[in-house]
Amino acid sequence: MEILKTIKELKSKLILIDGSLGFVPTMGALHKGHLSLLKSARKENEILVASLFLNPKQFSPDEDFHNYPRNIEKDISIFSDSGVDFVFMPDEDQVYPKGFSTFINNLEGGVFEGEFRDRHFEGVLTVVAKLINIVNPKRIYLGEKDAQQLFLIKKMLEDLNFDVIVRPVETIRESNGLACSSRNSYFSRKEFVDAGNIYQSLLKVCTLWKEGENDSSRLKQEFQKNLEKLDDMEIQYVEIVDPDTFKIINSLKNIKKSILIVAVIFKGIRLIDNIILD
Ligand code: PAJ
Repeated sequence: MEILKTIKELKSKLILIDGSLGFVPTMGALHKGHLSLLKSARKENEILVASLFLNPKQFSPDEDFHNYPRNIEKDISIFSDSGVDFVFMPDEDQVYPKGFSTFINNLEGGVFEGEFRDRHFEGVLTVVAKLINIVNPKRIYLGEKDAQQLFLIKKMLEDLNFDVIVRPVETIRESNGLACSSRNSYFSRKEFVDAGNIYQSLLKVCTLWKEGENDSSRLKQEFQKNLEKLDDMEIQYVEIVDPDTFKIINSLKNIKKSILIVAVIFKGIRLIDNIILD
């Protein structure tokens, strides 16, 4: 495995390659969710490139950029064990040289995550577009855990005629159902256990829907009711949306597939999760 820090170095390696290239972008602090992306990409491609770049542009000023978990040595050994061929690990000035001023936005990105995280998706879409142009992969692997991010990246690639295949990868969870996330390391043991209630509440909504409840507000209330018992839990949003358009669905009558998306702040830590109602 080779670690490349500049665009020039990476390109000089990739230009010699002939064969399908799979790409897994990450911000490091790798966990089982990232591993699953790497595993899928390793299986399907001849060459595997991963990036580790903690993208400052996708953090709002009030967010945890400075405290975000960093564990570069461990990440490198995980990449190596996962069969990564090239790790792209640029410094900030490689990605955003002095004078950088072009950002990609989506007019629909101001809702849900976009409402609570100022300029977040602008940072995500811009860095993903740049990374794709640098790596030029055949396939990119993205987690369903970040459902709106996945939707907006797919939309960007389609709108801007990028020639890359998106492979969505199922959410990987801890044994109590909590979706694996780099931010889970902020929790104490007890908080971690309690945070499992988020997924248990999503499952309860899913059961209610399977029993025939079609009214979105009642399904959303079920989620809220289940989490009310937890101290220090604030629900930022809970919505049911169409996975293809991310538009809100009020009645699920005759709707085959939808997605329940939620964001909560538990013990001061912001978590997102979702479940597909299919
Ligand atoms: P990061 O949070 O490091 O996540 C990298 C990839 O792992 C994303 O595609 C994310 O959806 C996926 N992922 C995270 N948790 C997961 C889980 N529990 N199960 C499955 N996949 C999971 O998302 C980002 O970084 C950044 O926004 C990035 C796309 C790299 C752009 O900076």
